[in-house]
Amino acid sequence: MLIVTALVLAACTDTGGDAQRDGPGGSAFTPTSIAVPNPTTTSTTRAPGPCPARPENCTLAMAGRAAGVRVGVALMSAQLDDPAVRDLVRTQFSQITPENELKWAQVEAEPGEFDFTAVDALVDFATAAGLETRGHTLIWGQRYGNGMPDWVAGITDPAIMESAMRKWIRTAVGRYRGRIQRWDVVNEPLANPGTGLDDSPFRRVLGDRYLDLAFSLAAAADQSAQLWINEIGVENDPARADALVELVTRLRIRGVPLHGVGLQGHFDKGTAPVQGRIRQLVDRLRPLGVEVAMTELDVVRRGDVSNPGRAQADVFAQVTSECLDGGCEELSFWGVSDAASWLDAQLGRPAEPLLFDALLQPKPAYRAVRDDLARR
Ligand code: XIL
Repeated sequence: MLIVTALVLAACTDTGGDAQRDGPGGSAFTPTSIAVPNPTTTSTTRAPGPCPARPENCTLAMAGRAAGVRVGVALMSAQLDDPAVRDLVRTQFSQITPENELKWAQVEAEPGEFDFTAVDALVDFATAAGLETRGHTLIWGQRYGNGMPDWVAGITDPAIMESAMRKWIRTAVGRYRGRIQRWDVVNEPLANPGTGLDDSPFRRVLGDRYLDLAFSLAAAADQSAQLWINEIGVENDPARADALVELVTRLRIRGVPLHGVGLQGHFDKGTAPVQGRIRQLVDRLRPLGVEVAMTELDVVRRGDVSNPGRAQADVFAQVTSECLDGGCEELSFWGVSDAASWLDAQLGRPAEPLLFDALLQPKPAYRAVRDDLARR
């Protein structure tokens, strides 16, 4: 029993690499759902043991590691000022995604003037904590959310567009070579709504080859990085899902160095996609030779059901289990806690779409995802 208790304690205190680094002010995050079993009261009917045999002793990252699944979270550098957030991120997750600060307009607001201060803070934190980083995002034909700089949107000459892309991709990917393991090279290539390719300035100026160019520039800048496309609104829309499968097929046939396809997974009505649709999509994509992940998961908490916490947990469980059943190796969530979500502004009310509440306490959705991971 002593050995078992020691194992459980070791599992529970696995807080990642730089747990000491916050100094005396830092407090180790302990998920409230993790109870260290008391040897005298441990039930004899359940197999005792550390994570994953006992899901309640797992964090998301621990259960994910045992199952071979990355568990990621999007955040902004200012959130690292809060020691409780730092502790939670390095304990619960195995990867971070800069939510906004690595978008082109944020880093190169004026041509040739690069500012990586905020991204450095995030990547340094991740590296010290032993977490991986998903680079988000290199080419996105949207101006909102720092997607594409205004000066890029105004380019009409193909040679100038190509050279702007070359400089940006080389600079960003090269700077984080070996520290950013995977990149969302092209974000939201499909029209939205629609099923064709988005009519972005990149495509208007360069034609469809802007896709090939973006991927080959990224590959040249870091040969070991995994290169992804990332798409919104495909999980419950068969026509857009078809369009995504066709696009990935075309890119693979053209020999584009594409390694992964991200399904963003924003469920802004709080409702689940039709049962089986995500699994079907994953099953069509993976045979094309790409990894598939849920990259930006959030599920709005509905106000019109009798048990909103349970309803939200059920949606998360359906989405994540279908993806994992199909062989997804990553689940990433679009925010740390309900204290702040991009969906708050979209809805004009708190969306509460994440796994932790505004006080960083795990919600029913947290337990649903963690227990599913621990079962695998
Ligand atoms: C969002 C951010 O969360 C917001 O803070 C920002 O104002 C707009 O962008 N798809 C994406 C993400 O790929 O980059 C978006 O992030 C959400 C939708």
